[in-house]
Amino acid sequence: MEKQKWWQKGIIYQIYPKSFMDTTGSGTGDLPGITSKLDYLRDLGVGAVWLTPVYPSPMVDNGYDIADYTGIDPSYGTMEDFDRLVTEAKKRGIRIVMDLVFNHSSDHHAWFLESKKDRTNPRADWYIWRDAKPNGSAPTNWRSIFGGSAWTWCEERGQYYLHTFAPQQPDLNWENPEVRRALYDAARFWLDKGVYGFRIDAITYIKKPMEFKDGKPDGKDGMAGVHFMTANTPGILDFLREFRREVFKGHDLFSVGEANGVAPDELKDWVGERGVFDMLFEFSHMLLSFQEGEVWCYPREPLAGKPLEGWTPSDGWKLTELKRALSASQAATRDNGWYPIFFENHDQPRSVNHFFPKGADTKKAAKAMATVLLTLRGTPFIFQGQELGFANVGWPSIEEYNDISSHGQYEFALKEGFTPEQAMGFVHLFSRDNARTPMQWDATVNAGFTSGKAKPWLPVHDDYAVVNAEVEARDPDSVLSWYHKLVQFRREHQELTAGDYEELMPESEEVYAFARTLGHSRLITVVNFSLNEVKLPEEITRGRAILLSSHGEEAGAVLHPLEARVYGTCQD
Ligand code: NOJ
Repeated sequence: MEKQKWWQKGIIYQIYPKSFMDTTGSGTGDLPGITSKLDYLRDLGVGAVWLTPVYPSPMVDNGYDIADYTGIDPSYGTMEDFDRLVTEAKKRGIRIVMDLVFNHSSDHHAWFLESKKDRTNPRADWYIWRDAKPNGSAPTNWRSIFGGSAWTWCEERGQYYLHTFAPQQPDLNWENPEVRRALYDAARFWLDKGVYGFRIDAITYIKKPMEFKDGKPDGKDGMAGVHFMTANTPGILDFLREFRREVFKGHDLFSVGEANGVAPDELKDWVGERGVFDMLFEFSHMLLSFQEGEVWCYPREPLAGKPLEGWTPSDGWKLTELKRALSASQAATRDNGWYPIFFENHDQPRSVNHFFPKGADTKKAAKAMATVLLTLRGTPFIFQGQELGFANVGWPSIEEYNDISSHGQYEFALKEGFTPEQAMGFVHLFSRDNARTPMQWDATVNAGFTSGKAKPWLPVHDDYAVVNAEVEARDPDSVLSWYHKLVQFRREHQELTAGDYEELMPESEEVYAFARTLGHSRLITVVNFSLNEVKLPEEITRGRAILLSSHGEEAGAVLHPLEARVYGTCQD
């Protein structure tokens, strides 16, 4: 077997800096806060940390609106704080990975401020400008991903500019070689600072179609989701090959692209030997609750239009669909590329609420999900708080939500004819704020996230007295201790990093079972996603010892509700 790269063997931990650790008492997290928690991450077995954007930003989309690609936002600290973080992380064997947001900048970026002045300035062509339709309306009927038209009128130029996301996030014009060069320079700036790789945001949207045409309306507002019109447009790979050549070549780094809209049969052009990235985040297993693509679309039948009280996202789909999606991704990256395993990030609800039936015990559900995460084939991504069993929040009114997309989703749902209660139901289930509440370090005021002088920028989840790092570190039965156990187990079993994947019991609507085989050695993971007891087939249990069980001593012939186990090689 070919030698594996560091990022294939390691575990990556995603930090949302605003919510991780505040050392100044401002109510928002900062870089020294991350540095102060590096021992926690080292003890968890983390090999690399992916930081969501820490660049100067007006924070309309919490940093995904960048005003300067080579600076640090003062609310997070200074460039010296960043350098210290890189150095201290390195001492602990942890590499820092940055987020590149190259589809768009902030409307406060100097490039955009110049570009919008008139049609003849040196940066006039750095963004996507178009004239109005003859009747004065926007050039096309495209709806932005955060809701409302994807075009905003600019008085100075007398033209519209395109924004796939918020109006404060104008799309950059990748057709212009100067734009591309400026972006590559920015990426190289961070490589020179000692970062080991990049997560590349919204990358499938960078190439726009040759001709801008109205799309078929997909909502009552008469608009067509911009992502259906611009994702993965022919010619995109030419840009990305150049990007790879100019930035990645000759560095021991890793790259993962956020890639909506890439079909499995196109994967060979995107990842692996002949591809442009090492891995791609694709969302087939995360979007099962929706009819198509993005959160702006209706939840699937039987959920659409029903009162939302009482249902969970998993009411809308079957476990076999989740397993099929995961197995398809495993198959697609078997011989080519590599798979980033994730069930949470800063854009998704918490997995204990997303993937399990209503009423599921969150601690058991968190352990079940962790077992899949750390035993599937690929690189596991842990999102902050996932290792403690964080759960969704459910604030009563839309005003309490910070997330720009939750506000868009709420407005969209009202326009589509849902009641305010139903619209709030969507927000409760899918708001990105579910993932963004502050880290819970201990049981003191504000969960130890901030010194308490200022209010945290988002409220701390009210379960913090029980769900926190300090309490869980002392409890051998906690979610955190289960993560530690799994990480250690993964380290000791090469089958889990290098072995093949094979799905077992594919028809089961209760259990996800799969084998990881390396030579003669074969481990089997079985995870009960249901609230029922399940008797496992003999082919799985006969002659095999239970090496790990989330029910500890109680493990027997029958799998308990939400129990996760790993069986060893058959000794018959
Ligand atoms: C995807 C990021 O993960 C999300 O948080 C952000 O809002 C959009 N891209 C726009 O940059």
